Amino acid sequence: MKFTISAKPLKQIANQTLVLFSFSDAETPEEKQVNREFDGLVAKLKKTKDFTGKLGSACVAYPAARLKRLLLVGLGKKNEFNLAAFQKAIDTAAKKLKNLPDEKVSVLLPSGLPKLDRVAAAAALSQTFLLSAYEFNDYKSQANEHTQITEVELLTTQKTVSAKIKDSLLAAEVIGRSVVFARNLGNHPGNAATPALLARHALNLAKENKALKVKVLGRKQVRKERMNALLAVAAGSEQEPKFIILEYRPRAKGKTVVLIGKGITFDSGGLSIKPAEKMEEMKFDMAGAATVMAIVQAAAALKLPVNLIGLVPATENLPSGRAMKPGDIVKSRSGKTIEIISTDAEGRMVLADALDYAKSYQPDLVIDFATLTGAIVVALGDELIGAFTNRQALLPKLERAAELTGEKVWPMPLEPEYKELIKSDFADLRNIAAVRYGDAINAALFLQHFVSFPWIHLDIAGVAWATREKPYRPKGATGTGVRLMIEFLKNLKI
Ligand code: BES
Ligand code: ZN
Ligand code: ZN
Repeated sequence: MKFTISAKPLKQIANQTLVLFSFSDAETPEEKQVNREFDGLVAKLKKTKDFTGKLGSACVAYPAARLKRLLLVGLGKKNEFNLAAFQKAIDTAAKKLKNLPDEKVSVLLPSGLPKLDRVAAAAALSQTFLLSAYEFNDYKSQANEHTQITEVELLTTQKTVSAKIKDSLLAAEVIGRSVVFARNLGNHPGNAATPALLARHALNLAKENKALKVKVLGRKQVRKERMNALLAVAAGSEQEPKFIILEYRPRAKGKTVVLIGKGITFDSGGLSIKPAEKMEEMKFDMAGAATVMAIVQAAAALKLPVNLIGLVPATENLPSGRAMKPGDIVKSRSGKTIEIISTDAEGRMVLADALDYAKSYQPDLVIDFATLTGAIVVALGDELIGAFTNRQALLPKLERAAELTGEKVWPMPLEPEYKELIKSDFADLRNIAAVRYGDAINAALFLQHFVSFPWIHLDIAGVAWATREKPYRPKGATGTGVRLMIEFLKNLKI
């Protein structure tokens, strides 16, 4: 899908599909123009109630003259309008266009929107179009039979197109594509998305952008790094574990942010095996890894002025004769020993070694992304990311980014009273708490043992996988966290 923007006058639009967004109770300048140009068509359709302008509604009209068709898309009431409403309207347009024959369409960029200037509107349009049109068909022998939009031309009623608006469009597209990258990785089944495949994708990113350096450590080097917690999780698998390092360092003296992504390419639970029902969904247990790779890629493409390191401990978690066992004790990279009580609490183990590795970068901030606990899904559902931090001052910044992107976060506590629950009788720590309640918090407290820097832990277990369709988010991997983090990093002053 290609996006362009032009200041072509409406008179020059011929023989194609034109999309117009319209409020139910107000007229945008663009709507006025269309009315002028096409004999009051929109006004007539509103009068006859063929088109109401309600959010989620759309109507195809045929203005006879030179235009093939006009797609009217409702924006709802003007005083209820916001970014989320606009995204919903764009999604309605994208879905409608799938059932119309044209692959190239023109969209009138609305102006005079409450809370959204043209620059923001252009960005929302391109990004939401991309994400709404997203489908994952890699394993279907026959692609779905509907129109694939190849080109979207935005039309602005301004005299010229500003550089600012062009940049904004481009940036939104870059971010949209990196979300698609994360979704694709998450949607590949476990037999394809192995640790080796994650590594290959990371190496490809470095080939596409010279500002990115990628290193992949195999089992031998992981052993050399004393990442025994990662090795313990990997012990039951035939697949070699990989520790993937992505480095984007535009500023020798600038701030350094390390991102860590849980990369369990399939989580069977190991010997503490999970129930069979829904086990197939555990191919998404590498969503954190996909998110981190996508963020680093996008940050480099956007040339963000922050040094960014991505760390991905990647392995499967499977039972076998060589697998780690409940009761086993391993010495993590930090030197702290971990008693494995449940082999299904593997995420916190691989993250423990990655957090310790992060120390070597003397980071100003470390953020981990992990589908870490079922408990966070119970607590917050599929709409909210659980956010834990040892620097409360970072939260408002994260919340601001959440507001701007619609990728919501909810603050969670690192409750000190629970700390003793993960003390082990035989080692320094046990990998699950002595009581099963509040596991999202217990898991975060476990991670905190390996942290000696400002840190945010994002438990994305609820948001990373969609079991119901929503606007601009089909079922499956969602890529949630990418847009949030780019927005956060853009404005970051640590
Ligand atoms: N990958 C899972 C967490 C998960 C569960 C994500 C459900 C999404 C949906 C993690 O490795 C895990 O298995 N956690 C256990 C921890 C338990 C053994 C303390 C869990 O949440 O059940
Ligand atoms: Zn698990
Ligand atoms: Zn897991």
